[in-house]
Amino acid sequence: MKLKMLLVAALVLALAVPVAAAPIVIKFSHVVAVDTPKGQAAEYFKKLAEERTKGAVKIEVYPNSQLYKDKEEMEALQLGAVQMLAPSLAKFAPLGVREFELFDLPFIFDGYEDLHAVTQGPVGKKLLAKLEPKGIKGLAYWDNGFKVMSANKEIRKPEDVKGMKLRIQSSKILDAQMRALGAIPQVMAFSEVYQALQTGVVDGTENPPSNLYTQKMHEVQKYVATTDHGYLGYAVIVNKKFWEGLPADIRSALESSMAEATKYANDIAKKKNDEDLAAVKASGKSQILQLTPAERAVWKSALVKVHDEMADRIGKDLLQETYQATGFKK
Ligand code: LMR
Repeated sequence: MKLKMLLVAALVLALAVPVAAAPIVIKFSHVVAVDTPKGQAAEYFKKLAEERTKGAVKIEVYPNSQLYKDKEEMEALQLGAVQMLAPSLAKFAPLGVREFELFDLPFIFDGYEDLHAVTQGPVGKKLLAKLEPKGIKGLAYWDNGFKVMSANKEIRKPEDVKGMKLRIQSSKILDAQMRALGAIPQVMAFSEVYQALQTGVVDGTENPPSNLYTQKMHEVQKYVATTDHGYLGYAVIVNKKFWEGLPADIRSALESSMAEATKYANDIAKKKNDEDLAAVKASGKSQILQLTPAERAVWKSALVKVHDEMADRIGKDLLQETYQATGFKK
């Protein structure tokens, strides 16, 4: 009897004291440094989302593969261990949506304008919709930039990388690209690249300058060539069940925060890459090989055949639609 009364008293007390509801936590994991286009946009999204939901949502950003490496983060999202990611578009095939590798085709875009014709047009929308049956919702595309090639030998011509072991992301298109150059592609998690370059496990790599510089890869690579031979960027994705289970007002505040963070990401991406290439140069640790348009054209003619080779993997119709959107010419 006494125990029962005590329990009732405890219950009355508990109800009388207003307890702040625990915030909804969104874990946002990524693999790059904070001072990159993706790293900065993730921080900006956090700021906006927390402000607009007045603390009802807490965004925990885990940069630099702190929480998960490339492959693990995809699994963690599907299992619900993290709620938000922004993997590079080269990393979607293991989810069963290999059409995203379209973005890896060498020389597919002449610049950001071509890229946006795809990411902000019907092709981009169609690709994101393909994620839904996998339990994933695509919220936005975030830009990064065009890739440079780095190595310890001068690389001006495609022949210069022949026989080199070059690290790539886990994309079959990138594998075909390196083979078209006579190089040996090595798939490796982003977090392992610096050490692999330092110890000579691989001879070189490709990445936009922002990734190269912030991972200090230029400190262990003697040459960086401005091949601009391909694009690397992101799709921001969430666990669909989690997202759709959010209260409508919260979800809409998060959506408007995402729209602004996307604009921010895309506004800073080019500038950040230009600055980081300049910083690599200023460091004096690696020499920038600034390729002329004529030199780039030689890379293009060596690599463009990869489009036809890999058309079936991407889907011929999707490829044609992309060409139409950008006005691509071989
Ligand atoms: C890479 O693995 O090189 C990139 O995808 C890393 C990133 O997220 O930009």
